[in-house]
Amino acid sequence: MSRVPLRFQVSKPLLAGREAEYVADAVETGWISGSGAYLDRLESAVSAFLGIEHGVAVTSGTAGLHLTCLSMGLKSGMDVIVPSLTYVASANAVTYCGARPVFADSALDTWNATIESIVRAWTEKTVGVIAVHLYGLPAPIADIAVLCKQRGAWLIEDCAESFGAKHNGRFVGSFGDAAVLSFFGNKIISTGEGGMIFVRDLDKRRLAVSLKGQGMDLESRYWHPIVGYNYRMTNVTAAIGLGQMEMAEYHINERRRVAASYLKALAPLQKEGLLRLPVEPNGYRNVYWLFSVVLNEGDRSYRNAVQTTLLEGHGVETRPFFVPMHRLPMYGSEHELPNAEFLGDHGINLPSYSGLKEEEIGEICAALAQTLKRVRTQ
Ligand SMILES: Cc1ncc(COP(=O)(O)O)c(C=O)c1O
Repeated sequence: MSRVPLRFQVSKPLLAGREAEYVADAVETGWISGSGAYLDRLESAVSAFLGIEHGVAVTSGTAGLHLTCLSMGLKSGMDVIVPSLTYVASANAVTYCGARPVFADSALDTWNATIESIVRAWTEKTVGVIAVHLYGLPAPIADIAVLCKQRGAWLIEDCAESFGAKHNGRFVGSFGDAAVLSFFGNKIISTGEGGMIFVRDLDKRRLAVSLKGQGMDLESRYWHPIVGYNYRMTNVTAAIGLGQMEMAEYHINERRRVAASYLKALAPLQKEGLLRLPVEPNGYRNVYWLFSVVLNEGDRSYRNAVQTTLLEGHGVETRPFFVPMHRLPMYGSEHELPNAEFLGDHGINLPSYSGLKEEEIGEICAALAQTLKRVRTQ
């Protein structure tokens, strides 16, 4: 088969607001480092949008996870429950602190960790849970919060993929002791690289702010009572973020519009039993970060063949679902987490971004239908 040029990237940012104007202003005024008005404005804008006090801008979602784990007092000898099906940063943050991630399995329909699997993963050393809202759908976060409270554990919400998602009418990020956003280039709100954390307890929040800035005492310059990091976002980066945040509703609505079109166009393939579509249970608002499907048939190589045909035959870029953490060399475990494994082998993320046109979605779905039927009969 001759290779078709790339027509649809899996993701791309839309910088259609005042991003360039704000960046130029930050540059012209010389405020290009880790403090400045755009940082303050971005932190206030995100906090006001989500109704959570009070955002702290950081260099990435990964840095945010590390800081929130540290602010909870995580250290060696402790266990933290993390879904196996997630991006590696959720587990690595635990490891950075010298602690051990213990993995929970996923539900086959929501792809998120279930309460039962979290309970099953609980050990004597469990001190906290990192709940991940995967691919835009909230985890059963109200129940997870109750469980953590009952067991005296803390809860960090990894909202990297779910800015704007809601459960029971509340934004994700408002349920836990802390929450983390990512503003990586493919996220719903993007600054290229960047993130934000929310830490509910004021003392813990102050600790996180201090750790972000080399562990410096917040009242006494160059007094560093603890070893910290440089996880400061720049004012230039925040300028992009503010432009994005001014269009936050638009970007969320765009993800939902794109998803509605995919759902309609792909329903016949689900009916034929070829794939499973994402769900939005009652009480949940899915923001469909990356619209994804789970193939019903075959194994990992079948899924990989579908992806290759989509790319080479139709110019449609896709991504496979994450490799479950318990399959990675550093986290390999004897535990069997069959749902995470099935999803990891069968899931595909389709192109999803603000501005993806209806007719383009139609073309992608036609390519997927043709590919599934072709690969099946090969
Ligand atoms: C679930 C999850 N957690 C954490 C991160 C890390 O965010 P960042 O790439 O900003 O470090 C990501 C990013 O892709 C993610 O998907």
